[in-house]
Amino acid sequence: MNILILGSGGREHALAWAVKQNPKCDRLIVAPGNAGIASIAECADIDILDGGVVSGFASDNAIDFVIVGPEAPLAAGVADQLRDAGFTVFGPSAAAARLEASKAFTKAICDAANAPTAAYARFTESAPAKAYIKDQGAPIVVKADGLAAGKGVIVAMTEAEALDAIDDMFGGEFGSAGAEVVIEEFMEGEEASYFILVDGETVIPIGTAQDHKRVGDGDTGPNTGGMGAYSPAPVLSEEIAAKALNEIVIPTMKVMKDQGTPYQGVLYAGLMIKDGQPRLVEYNCRFGDPECQVLMMRLGAQALDLMLACAQGRLSEIKANWADDHALTVVLAADGYPGTYKKGTEIRGLDALPETSSEYTFHAGTIAKDGAILANGGRVLNVTARGATLQEARDRAYAMVDRIDWPEGFCRKDIGWRAL
Ligand code: AMP
Ligand code: GLY
Repeated sequence: MNILILGSGGREHALAWAVKQNPKCDRLIVAPGNAGIASIAECADIDILDGGVVSGFASDNAIDFVIVGPEAPLAAGVADQLRDAGFTVFGPSAAAARLEASKAFTKAICDAANAPTAAYARFTESAPAKAYIKDQGAPIVVKADGLAAGKGVIVAMTEAEALDAIDDMFGGEFGSAGAEVVIEEFMEGEEASYFILVDGETVIPIGTAQDHKRVGDGDTGPNTGGMGAYSPAPVLSEEIAAKALNEIVIPTMKVMKDQGTPYQGVLYAGLMIKDGQPRLVEYNCRFGDPECQVLMMRLGAQALDLMLACAQGRLSEIKANWADDHALTVVLAADGYPGTYKKGTEIRGLDALPETSSEYTFHAGTIAKDGAILANGGRVLNVTARGATLQEARDRAYAMVDRIDWPEGFCRKDIGWRAL
């Protein structure tokens, strides 16, 4: 079959890498892709936020299956337009993608499903929001309702920080995403990510992972898109994962179906775990990046069968077969990230790195120029390895990192520390 993947990050490189290993895949196109993806698939520079453009491209190239990587095309209704044009698509409708695109929407779904999550209130005006913060006290969490590229959440340790966040949000710092604000109880605990496929009816868990959001070792410094990940996440024990499924995922998916917006695609549940009890922090309607990289390394070729079954409503017929192993990915980022950073610096040594089913370097922000690989973003490479133990996966990944010659880049040295 001919397969089109939308996106250009390390997540999409990992999806392409797994899909490519499945003999069902005849032709693979990634739009727009990046320099690493170009070594395993065709890349096409089209506007993936324009459903008309994407479905025209899919028709011209006799595409049988479309996998949508990032949230922006989902929120823009690209999956709906493709399905209307008759394509088989992995990814939720815009109506269902509101689980990520609107925090207030998700809170209302949790209420209807009686799913454990932080207590909250919604505001469209500054004065009552501030009064609520003064009444509740700090720590407290202030969130822009809409999509804000991962920057719309302020975990305020003091009341003053929370009040400033209100000024920023209603002052337009987050554009229309901040027109409504959700204020939440601060939840303590350990965070983990749970990935579940949902075909509207059946839900099947496909793995657990833990991200490292802070830029610095020991979880210090500002938040990033994620500096590394590993799978499985031991904090999500079988028992806690079952609770998350039965108390949060299944009831919320039932509410989505009952209200006429069934969810189809991968559901990424961000969970906070304390004293054996999971609570929902947030839903995302896509794979995490870099969590996808470790999940794909563990799933391999069957990832395509799972995504296809999901898109075709056949999840009840299929099972995820897990190798009893561990995967870990280290993100290499440009100096300065998540603040300002330089583009165009050269990365050397990539050609000499192993490329096996257990060791692979996924590209996030790279471009190829005159035979060289140049950094072209904040997060640039995801050095990923598998092992019988987490320690082995980590040793392998860092051994590869050591062989990369990129003076203008950096990484965290402690990925996996919580589990080790
Ligand atoms: P989000 O953009 O929703 O992923 O939130 C970013 C991060 O903020 C999460 O990964 C958590 O670390 C933190 N966070 C969000 N909501 C809460 C909460 N209610 N309590 C504590 N931390 C939170
Ligand atoms: N790594 C966090 C995310 O993809 O949202």
